[in-house]
Amino acid sequence: MSMQDAISAFLGQRHNHCIGGVWTDGESATTLPVENPATEQTIASVVLGTRADVDAAVVAARRALSGPWGTLKAYQRARILLRFADLIEQRAEFLSNVETLENGMPLSLSMASTTGLMPELLRYYAGWCTKITGETIPAAPAGRETEDFLVYTQREPIGVVAAITPWNAPLNIVLMKLAPALAAGCTVVLKPAELTPMTGELLVRLGHEAGVPEGVLNLVQGLGSEVGAALAEHPDVDKISFTGSTEIGRSIVRAAAGNLKKVTLELGGKSPMVVFADASLEDAIPTAAMACFFLTGQNCMAGTRLFVHESIHDQFVAGLVGVAQALKIGDPLAPDTVLGPLISAKQRQRVLDYIALGEREGATRATPERNIDGPGHFVAPVVFTDCQPDMRVVREEIFGPVLTVQRFADGDHEALAAVVNDTIFGLSGSVWSRDISTALAFARRIDSGQVAINAHAAVSPETPFGGNRQSGWGREMGRESLDAYLKTKAVSVRL
Ligand code: NAI
Ligand code: MG
Repeated sequence: MSMQDAISAFLGQRHNHCIGGVWTDGESATTLPVENPATEQTIASVVLGTRADVDAAVVAARRALSGPWGTLKAYQRARILLRFADLIEQRAEFLSNVETLENGMPLSLSMASTTGLMPELLRYYAGWCTKITGETIPAAPAGRETEDFLVYTQREPIGVVAAITPWNAPLNIVLMKLAPALAAGCTVVLKPAELTPMTGELLVRLGHEAGVPEGVLNLVQGLGSEVGAALAEHPDVDKISFTGSTEIGRSIVRAAAGNLKKVTLELGGKSPMVVFADASLEDAIPTAAMACFFLTGQNCMAGTRLFVHESIHDQFVAGLVGVAQALKIGDPLAPDTVLGPLISAKQRQRVLDYIALGEREGATRATPERNIDGPGHFVAPVVFTDCQPDMRVVREEIFGPVLTVQRFADGDHEALAAVVNDTIFGLSGSVWSRDISTALAFARRIDSGQVAINAHAAVSPETPFGGNRQSGWGREMGRESLDAYLKTKAVSVRL
């Protein structure tokens, strides 16, 4: 079968839930169309789950914790993750085509991930499986000086994990949750975004093919308000790992209070990029532009608030406008496309409303009008200059290709940092300077989960990624993410 035939066959398949290893429509056969945002055509449909389906999936996940999965040796879990990585590499083209069809991201971007970050992420966590260890502690319990104790800790899987994921980088974000959860020995109920359900399904299928036992990876498709909310409230879910909007993050925290489940949140951002006068403009201009426009701005770590020293401001803006104008926007399957469409008509309208708002608020639109022929939810990048800290386009996450520029003068870095940190978010950030002391000192002042110097948002499996303040709770990737799927038991032995 050709790749094209295989993709058509997959799209035409029934897309439903996987509960305890069985693919099923569950309690309801209501479906939602899946749209290709580049063509506005319906390419598939997905079955919408119910609370009863969530209950069944949680039961299956609970049962699987004590099944064969629970008795596997650490090296056996590692082997499964390594096979999972190999399968992703082998099916990279297929996976990426499906991601591009349902999400609209350029195929080249998706391929970079399915042949790079994704398998490496699984291999990284495969390596951790055999290194999950506790400690021995020279404890001296109070008031029992005459007795002899040995205390040791062991690390156990946290239990049943609900993963609720968004549509903006659906393959990556699902895997960022599955990989550490499986490495830790947890079981999972995944609810992918309803706009991009098929990539989540494919990862569950590949996980099973790699040897994940039945019931360990469950999938319930459906709406956030129904399936997502049921998972967040569920009394038998031990942990929620969520990526999405700050607003829904807050509602998940409220819902999780019922059984005090553990919560990891990866939420919105409005990340700063601070360019000092001595920065290499040749580097900084195209990188800063793409830090904002990457994924057509639908990217939580996007650099959307640019602060430029006044001496280079005009040159910098002219450079940004040049980059924005030259970016190839269009068919995401074309190899030279840099920007695809936004995810939906709703998201496009939201972004267009913000662009109109920026003009009303008094920002200057530096990029000329650029219309892109439909169909498809395309929006051309916009650079706003003369931005002020209190403008809504500067304060709110737009999730579209809109870059706001502010200028700063020589002077006190503390005052500059106060403006840079004047945001409810704290996800990412970058500092641009040829002077290492300036760069390091200013990086220290930025209140964000990660800061890059002469780069923006360098993501890797080894590096913790997550937000301060209202950008989230906890970190993904790196060792910290593994820790978030483990719990510690201290065992005290009276000798
Ligand atoms: P959203 O936060 O509503 O959706 C993310 C996930 O949460 C989806 O799987 C959705 O079904 C689920 N969900 C929705 N309501 C839920 C609820 N009550 N309980 C549990 N789960 C629920 O994001 P949406 O509406 O698609 O996008 C709106 C804005 O959110 C974007 O414009 C952007 O600003 C932000 N966003 C940020 C993301 C990030 O990576 N940090 C990703 C997606 C959106
Ligand atoms: Mg929403």
